[in-house]
Amino acid sequence: MPEIQFQGNSYSLDEKENLLDGLLRQHARAPYSCRAGVCHSCMLRVTAGCVPTEAQSSLTAEQIKKGYILTCQTRVSESLSLALPTRDEVPGVITDLTPVSSTEVTIKVSTRLPFEVSVGEHITLVSNEGFEASYPVADFNEDIQTLECTITRSAGGSPFSIWIHSEAAIGDRLMVIKNG
Ligand code: FES
Repeated sequence: MPEIQFQGNSYSLDEKENLLDGLLRQHARAPYSCRAGVCHSCMLRVTAGCVPTEAQSSLTAEQIKKGYILTCQTRVSESLSLALPTRDEVPGVITDLTPVSSTEVTIKVSTRLPFEVSVGEHITLVSNEGFEASYPVADFNEDIQTLECTITRSAGGSPFSIWIHSEAAIGDRLMVIKNG
């Protein structure tokens, strides 16, 4: 029977049981929302044990490299140690995309786990497709965990800025990483 170590506690799972369901059944304080592999709220990091790769199918290459999994998307047959994403790296979702000129778009990104950042501080945004770029934070509302950045598209701009200007939509997911 797999044992899951999480936040200083040990949880025994049935092999036929979904990982998130098994944690919640035993009152673990595991984050979640949709339970369908869409919102990424349930993302945890495997710190020891064999990573269940089926729980990584919608994650970015960077997230996979770091051992992140969606707990709602897997059963486990082996013991694992899990940890919350660090506060310096959290999943987010685009909640607003407003063109402010022909070359600038302002985006709002809500983070799904607590995140602290100051206006003017640089963060890196990573799209699900793996495009990434750093921007200064133009605004941050701690109450609703939403930050704002202005993305400029210039000739020969970064793939991330081209993606924001041409394809990104409200509801798209991103990783938000505080620059060291
Ligand atoms: S709870 Fe939404 S992806 Fe797992």
